[in-house]
Amino acid sequence: MDRIIIHGGNRLQGTIHIGGAKNAALPLLAACLLSDETLVLSNLPHLADISTMAHLLADFGVDISMNGDAGNGGNIGRTFELNAGAVVETTAPYDLVRKMRASILVLGPLLARFGKARVSLPGGCAIGTRPVDLHLEALAQLGAEIELDDGYINAKVNGRLKGAHIIFPMVTVGGTENLLMAATLADGETVLANAAREPEVSDLARCLVAMGADIEGIGTDTLRIRGCDHLHGAEHSVVPDRIETGTYAVAAAVTDGDLLLKGTRLDLIESVADILRKAGVEITDTGDGLRVRRASGGIRGIDVTTEPFPGFPTDMQAQLMVLAAVADGASTITETIFENRYMHVPELTRMGADIHVHGSTATVRGGGGLKGAPVMATDLRASVSLVLAGLAADGETSVSRVYHLDRGYERLEEKLSACGAVIERIKS
Ligand code: EPZ
Repeated sequence: MDRIIIHGGNRLQGTIHIGGAKNAALPLLAACLLSDETLVLSNLPHLADISTMAHLLADFGVDISMNGDAGNGGNIGRTFELNAGAVVETTAPYDLVRKMRASILVLGPLLARFGKARVSLPGGCAIGTRPVDLHLEALAQLGAEIELDDGYINAKVNGRLKGAHIIFPMVTVGGTENLLMAATLADGETVLANAAREPEVSDLARCLVAMGADIEGIGTDTLRIRGCDHLHGAEHSVVPDRIETGTYAVAAAVTDGDLLLKGTRLDLIESVADILRKAGVEITDTGDGLRVRRASGGIRGIDVTTEPFPGFPTDMQAQLMVLAAVADGASTITETIFENRYMHVPELTRMGADIHVHGSTATVRGGGGLKGAPVMATDLRASVSLVLAGLAADGETSVSRVYHLDRGYERLEEKLSACGAVIERIKS
């Protein structure tokens, strides 16, 4: 397994191009199943999860043509042309789904267009049990018959799905996306109340509208979809990755650096920007991106609770903890979305961070500085928090199991070393 070695202490200075959002690209790829015409997706990031989803779609019989490394040194995402006109398979097998839980997002489109789907239950992952009960209950309200056997979801509908008024008991990003896609081809009107408002959900909705779907309320917690008989092809550019943006913003802050993050937008990370500014980070909108640097007064402690959008994103919790660990003063971080998303804590503690977790709240006392150490990645965002800590620490940090990183961060070492980080990947 590859390792990443970091010699900390360098201030990061330079420009980083932000890629298309992984968590938008995955549902957008699944959306190609809703039409027999070609969907062209651009600004796709080069990530393991994107390749896994493309592999799954190709197994269904989707015709996919990919352009390789796009121009500008790979700083412009890839473009995929996808055509699901000749789909012959509607089973998503366990060995693919277990590698990438987001495969569950093919369920809604397959049901809506083909009337059947057999999708492996995704199972849990490091950060939680990650059930999909809300997806299934809502699809059943659209008329799907759903049975579970041998670890698979067997779903079918006689005729078409029927529109319904659905109220999600809790905000679910994937559940909203699955139902949004399914409802576009249902007979009649569907209302999704308490829907997720994440920018990736809105990006999917905008792409579906470009394909001919009738959707109102985009960006709000109530989506109204009038089903139609057919969706046509479209072209869509994936929204920039707000979590990658926030991650590199923290990298600038913890190294007392000065980074220009290009190809992203401030409105995607307002809650993150608010917290970073409270901590003493200067973030300015440059028109084609953001400039991030530590303000003159150092980094102050912050108190934050993760919430569904527009609240502070859970996917930035681990990264913010590193900022808190190097701040002057104490911080509290409360995780409300996932039940086990503090696995970065023991690893950061090995690097000298002073963090105590009580239930869902972590108390972080900064000011002690971090020391490089060998640490282990456990999940995608925990992994990148260890890299951030390594950038801020004195000495050498070795991060193992970096395959987690490759799922969500494109060319991380390359982007960081171009800004002055001493970082390299040791292949093994
Ligand atoms: C999406 O996961 C993201 N993944 C996650 O990003 C992100 O952390 C999460 O949304 C929350 O923002 C993708 O978009 C591919 P949820 P998802 O359904 O859709 C519970 C990353 O690091 N729940 O909003 O799976 C669930 O257990 C990843 O990029 C049910 O109980 O998240 C969780 O506690 C990690 N039943 C909460 O809801 C359900 O049927 C939110 O989950 C569905 C969810």
